[in-house]
Amino acid sequence: MTLGVCYFPEHWPSERWETDVAQMADAGLEYVRMAEFSWARIEPERGEFDFDWLDEAIELVGDHGMQAVLCTPTATPPKWLVDEHPDVRQADADGTPREWGSRRFTCFNSPTYREETERIVRKVTERYADNPHVAGWQADNEYGCHRTVRCYCDDCAAAFREWLEAKYGDVDALNEAWGNTFWSQQYPDFEAVDLPGPTPAEHHPSRLLDYYRFANDSVVEYNRLHADLIRAANDEWFVTHNFMGDFPTLDAYSLADDLDFLGWDSYPTGFVQDRQPGDPTTDELRAGDPDEIGLNHDIYRGPATPFWVLEQQPGDVNWPPHAPQPGDGAMRLWAHHAVAHGADAVLYFRWRRCRQGQEQYHAGLRKQDGSPDKGYRDAAATAPELFDLDPVDAPVALLHDYESLWATDIQPHSPDWHYWSHLRAYYDALRERGVQVDVVPPSADLDGYAAVVAPTLYLAGEALAGRLTDYVASGGHLLLGARTGEKDPYNQLHETLAPGPLADLAGVRVSRHESLPAQFDTRVGYDGETYDYQTWAGWLDPDAAETRGRYRSGEAAEEPAVAHNRVGEGSVTTVGCWPGEDLAGALVADLLDAAGVDHADPLPDGVRLAHRDGYTWVTNFTSEPVSLDVPGDASFLVGGDTVDAFDVAVVEAAVEDVREDI
Ligand code: GAL
Repeated sequence: MTLGVCYFPEHWPSERWETDVAQMADAGLEYVRMAEFSWARIEPERGEFDFDWLDEAIELVGDHGMQAVLCTPTATPPKWLVDEHPDVRQADADGTPREWGSRRFTCFNSPTYREETERIVRKVTERYADNPHVAGWQADNEYGCHRTVRCYCDDCAAAFREWLEAKYGDVDALNEAWGNTFWSQQYPDFEAVDLPGPTPAEHHPSRLLDYYRFANDSVVEYNRLHADLIRAANDEWFVTHNFMGDFPTLDAYSLADDLDFLGWDSYPTGFVQDRQPGDPTTDELRAGDPDEIGLNHDIYRGPATPFWVLEQQPGDVNWPPHAPQPGDGAMRLWAHHAVAHGADAVLYFRWRRCRQGQEQYHAGLRKQDGSPDKGYRDAAATAPELFDLDPVDAPVALLHDYESLWATDIQPHSPDWHYWSHLRAYYDALRERGVQVDVVPPSADLDGYAAVVAPTLYLAGEALAGRLTDYVASGGHLLLGARTGEKDPYNQLHETLAPGPLADLAGVRVSRHESLPAQFDTRVGYDGETYDYQTWAGWLDPDAAETRGRYRSGEAAEEPAVAHNRVGEGSVTTVGCWPGEDLAGALVADLLDAAGVDHADPLPDGVRLAHRDGYTWVTNFTSEPVSLDVPGDASFLVGGDTVDAFDVAVVEAAVEDVREDI
């Protein structure tokens, strides 16, 4: 478990580099990520390469006992390249090219850009193939950032036609799969297919879903190009990529086979402002939301594999609406929280506040005058506290399905339907109880999980139904949330009522649904208590299942809302509505008890427990201290039984034995 930093030596005079690198080593950092965005510095003119500066920087990193992580520089091609080949640019839906002058504007399907990528990636990787100070590579930077997964250029149109032809074989099959009789949308042949440009009314949902899948596959292929070239130069290097938080348009799991591990970029005080509905609290503006950060750690971790935080917020940042200073200690808290969720390394972004360019209002570990900022002190305090650990061993899987995200995004059926927030109702309830959760795709192997939570498997086919049936038949406990099984994988409603192919397993069908704005009273009874729900009500019609909850308000009153089906030693709980926090807590606690998963009592809001390798982390994301009650013989490795504001404790105890001392 270790720390590192992202460094741009090319932004500073070379005389300064020795001091910078020495200060990194003094803070206990072990990895230095470099060369991202540096194509124009490496190749100022076509075919004229200048590697001296990077050679020197890597050498300094090695001299100070650290390792370099290099990045392929493809997110920012030089001006000369774009002037020579304007066709490398992406286009907006209305055909407007995305221009040079920023970043991430090149097309994943452009044959020219793929050639150029191959050329520069081969050059930089071959250059450092035998360099002992280079540990591995990050391919490109944040694929899809700035809404760029989906492109509408001519190269993409041609590639989309090929993709469809490969998928459907003949155009009648495509017309049938999409249901193109609706509004006379049949295609006469594949040549007639174009990209979904601007239209007066909404697009055909099946066409959009396939276009989103195609755009995703284009990134997968583009990433594979990098990974293959990096490994061809040196197959001992690791290859990773820095994904983003709550990122909707790229299926991170689909790139996993080409990467050794996944990484992501964590900016807690930004995400609470621009990723979720509602206003953040002042504590969240200082330290972020532990479950929002935790969810992303758990997505990118994957079952029993590590992940890296390739960019960790170092202080105030430039891009959210507001830039409050993080609370004292927050940069240390975030690193420990990442480790508790399975991170092997946390790299702060960036070393020093930059004097030029778009990110002048973004902190670094050091200020622009070179003096230490809060982040440097936090990093230096954290480094000696980290120790080696086994991977996280999670008893529960939560199924996260990007295609269901895309399809519900295409037809949300309510302005308040928000895939991530609905998923968070369940995730937060699990995390409040200190349960470690593997957030995995529906295709994941579910053997070994005591319980599986599937908030919204909106698109469900027979294969998925078969796998979930096997899981439950072998004694697993499954929870199916609202809108599960409404559609088939082509984005058509199933002819049988939801949950479609999962109905026999669940022992229930959804007889009717409604989406409700906030002015309706939305209450539901469950296990003798009354709870709130929001936005979505599926009215259940159980056959084999037993009704465990009923709506208590509005048109739905008395209709079943929660049903439970025992299947041998296993069970399926179906929830028709989007549960409020308390109902989600009750449902999750019952699921965990049925599955025999030990769990803690919730601590105050914003205080979280996480267990890894025999230790429990108590992370306090609030401005109030919390006192702990732990077994008398439990020893603390970090902190003690009072966890201050934005502070952390690590105690050798089981998660269910760590309580609040009231
Ligand atoms: C990330 C990006 C970095 C930098 C950072 C600023 O999204 O990868 O290059 O822009 O944001 O917070």
